[in-house]
Amino acid sequence: MEQTFIMIKPDGLQRGLIGEIITRFEKKGFILKGLKLISAERSLAEKHYAEHSERPFFNQLVKFISSGPIVAMVWEGKNAIATARKLIGSSNPDDSAPGTIRGDFAIDIDRAREFTHYEHSLSRNVIHGSDTVESAQREIALWFPEGTTQWQSSLHSWIYG
Ligand code: CMP
Repeated sequence: MEQTFIMIKPDGLQRGLIGEIITRFEKKGFILKGLKLISAERSLAEKHYAEHSERPFFNQLVKFISSGPIVAMVWEGKNAIATARKLIGSSNPDDSAPGTIRGDFAIDIDRAREFTHYEHSLSRNVIHGSDTVESAQREIALWFPEGTTQWQSSLHSWIYG
């Protein structure tokens, strides 16, 4: 069974989308393995987005992610990484289909500032999801160094037999 790291970004919290997002993952059949509300230090955000360190938006992105609390989660399920990214939609909300989280709740990475009081305008697309098995493992270890629950919910056997 695959696990993926999902983060609700500061704009998602600011706009009151925590419950809506968790509901979508639950209804899809994912099983929650870790959940916490945290204010990330800049250094943690830098490590998380290390692969983007040369991109022009890196500083803005790191500043944004460490500008307010985020919800860090681990969700488990069949093909969890790819399936979660389908639920989330494309990085750029301009391209995200209606019905996806970004397609429904983000307009574009820049204009999303209209919904929030944050000064930093870029990188707002509500949610992050790991893109590969390697990045999921790295991100889960980074955000949940204490580990995630080993508890196997009855939902698991109901869904997966
Ligand atoms: P995420 O899925 O977390 O992965 C990388 C993040 O970089 C992405 O979501 C956006 O928040 C941000 N990002 C990607 N492209 C841009 C861009 N052109 N300008 C600003 N931020 C961006």
